[in-house]
Parts: sequence; structure tokens; C-alpha cells
Amino acid sequence: MSAATSFTLQVNGRTQSVTVAPETPLLYALRNDLGLVAAKYGCGAEQCGACAVLVNGDKAFSCTLTVAEAAGKAITTLEGLGTPEAPHPLQKAFEAEQAVQCGYCTSGIIVAAKALLDANPDPDLPAIRLALQDHLCRCGTHSRVFRAIRRAAREMKTGEMRP
Ligand code: FES
Ligand code: FES
Repeated sequence: MSAATSFTLQVNGRTQSVTVAPETPLLYALRNDLGLVAAKYGCGAEQCGACAVLVNGDKAFSCTLTVAEAAGKAITTLEGLGTPEAPHPLQKAFEAEQAVQCGYCTSGIIVAAKALLDANPDPDLPAIRLALQDHLCRCGTHSRVFRAIRRAAREMKTGEMRP
């Protein structure tokens, strides 16, 4: 490990400092230094999607993205999408469709769905499958997840569930 260095991270619209080795995975800084624990450690090798966050609007695997690489970029975690009082339409739709079982994969999937809907507000099922192809759910929630994303897309289109 290299010597600890101070980095400035823009997370969920806030500027935060962490002092870590440059090669520290962003996931560790989010969870251990900033207390943002929605993103999870699954595989550590870009194979499961549990750690996904948005970086400058694009999905990124925070298990392999280093703090040095993430510094200065706009990072969004699940905590930045909505609050219990004002959830994001995706969060509402996942609840409405009961698309969560243990929840370990859910943060990464919702973040990936956010990136998808930002790029394509009306995705069909193949587009949703493609966007989630590197997200594993061992609880088997996939069909409910697909329904929830379609539901959020519909409701964001009509504006009914906008936070
Ligand atoms: S923990 Fe990052 S992709 Fe699995
Ligand atoms: S809800 Fe348990 S791994 Fe997806």
C-alpha cells in the first residue's frame, strides 16, 4: 500500500475529504470513511454489480475504481437518489413490485437502472436485461426487478412519482 494521501470526493452533491492510500477502492472509502453503506462488496472483481455507483452519470464498479481515479468526479450512491421521505421513483417502484429479497444486490441494480433510464427513458425488456447483465441476484428477483424498472419508467414519464 502507498502512503495515505488526502483526496477530495464529490459524493451525492457534497464535497468530502478522505485520507487513504491512492489505490484504495472507492467502495472502501464510501463504506468505511464516509458511512455510505448502500453499495456492497460482493466479488471485488467487476463480476456481480453489488458495488455499483454512478461516476459522472455512468455506472462504475466501486470495488475496482480507486479513490485516486474517482477524485474530482461526481459520485452518486443509492443514498443520493432519494430519502425515505422523498424516495426516487425507482425506489418506490422496487417497493411497489416487492423487487427486493435479501437486498444485497439491490443498491447496485437501482443505480444501474438509474443510469439506464437517464440514457433511455423508455427501455424495453431486452434493453433492461442488457443494462443488468453484469448484476447478479442470487435470490432470483429478476422478473420483479424488470417489472419495477418498467413501472418506474412509466411513472417518471407521466410525472406521477417524481420526487
Ligand atoms: S463487488 Fe464490485 S462487481 Fe462485485
Ligand atoms: S435480493 Fe438477494 S441477492 Fe438480490
